[in-house]
Amino acid sequence: MKGQDITVLVTGGAGFIGSNFVLYLLKNYPQFHVINLDKLTYAGNLDNLKSIENHPNYTFIKGDICDEKLVGEIVAGGVDYLINFAAESHVDRSITDPGIFVRTNVLGTQVLLEAAKKYGVKKYIQISTDEVYGSLDKEGYFTETSPLAPNSPYSASKASADLFVRAYYKTFGLNVNITRCSNNYGPYQFPEKLIPLMISNALEGKELPVYGDGLYVRDWLYVEDHCRAIDAVMQRGKPGEIYNIGGGNEKTNLEIVRLILQELNKPESLIRFVKDRPGHDRRYAIDSSKIQRELNWRPYYDFTDGLKLTIRWYLEHVDWWYKIKSGEYQEYYQKMYQDR
Ligand code: NAD
Ligand code: DAU
Repeated sequence: MKGQDITVLVTGGAGFIGSNFVLYLLKNYPQFHVINLDKLTYAGNLDNLKSIENHPNYTFIKGDICDEKLVGEIVAGGVDYLINFAAESHVDRSITDPGIFVRTNVLGTQVLLEAAKKYGVKKYIQISTDEVYGSLDKEGYFTETSPLAPNSPYSASKASADLFVRAYYKTFGLNVNITRCSNNYGPYQFPEKLIPLMISNALEGKELPVYGDGLYVRDWLYVEDHCRAIDAVMQRGKPGEIYNIGGGNEKTNLEIVRLILQELNKPESLIRFVKDRPGHDRRYAIDSSKIQRELNWRPYYDFTDGLKLTIRWYLEHVDWWYKIKSGEYQEYYQKMYQDR
């Protein structure tokens, strides 16, 4: 990509992965014009983007991806790449309040697709998830052709959105890609998700709530590796293709919690086994050979290094997560964990 006149619309760019991606783009392609459209829900945080807020090639717009008029105006102004990160992203919240997941994740995606079609966006990329494939037993991996079998309202909404993306490719010829990544971790992750929740609770001397038997398995990827994969898809992804992205780092939740406690020199007595998540997917594991083979992407960080970097980041940015945890988050935490 040459760059000079390229405009990238990133939606959800104030969240965890979106903000990492905005920072990545401006660092690696400072000549791109990056527009960030974000509603600033509980998960959106402009503190993540302080270092580039005055960058001449960066524009922030507060708004909702479901707002057809606003989205239409932005895209009509000229957008080459539209990359949709905006979503309700937490499985536990989708169990207590599924409706907003349908609105943002499904309707919002369709609004973006429509604008992309109407105003001739060159490429639309949907940031989806491995959770659309459902759950695996001990053996096997998700490939791009694994059947969609979502089990939570969150994953059902993401799978539905993926089907609309496919339909806009098949019916209208919109140039789309879908990426399906495994669990990310790294800087700026909201402390409702496993790794930042456990790091920050351990630092506060609070209990570490492990769901069920703690033997659920996720495949972890450092967020910067995910950003590089999306970059590869922007540059070299073939029209209509789906790309799985994964780290090849399968770990049980209990292994992760123990590693965090070890690294922070905290006792294992902080672990508390709590009531399981309903419909909890046992194992995710991604076969990412397609993106490795076709787009020449590889994960760079191994899990031990990535986790150390992440723990260090949370140690050095106590103000960042403490501000979040001392706000409306406390109500959320009580609701989710008090009687668990
Ligand atoms: P996040 O919850 O940290 O951030 C979501 C962002 O979207 C927030 O900034 C929020 O304000 C914004 N947003 C929410 N609703 C909006 C709306 N209606 N209009 C505009 N903006 C809105 O999420 P994340 O963990 O960074 O995930 C980003 C994307 O990546 C999501 O689509 C998610 O499904 C996908 N994903 C996440 C992971 C992961 O491990 N976190 C893995 C694979 C895929
Ligand atoms: O796989 C990709 C998905 O990863 C993304 O699509 C989602 O947006 C993202 O939230 C993540 O979903 P998970 O449900 O896997 O992530 P979470 O951090 O919520 O949980 C990871 C594992 O840890 C899961 O097995 C549940 C468990 N867990 C989680 C929390 C918050 C606990 O045991 N205790 C907890 O307090």
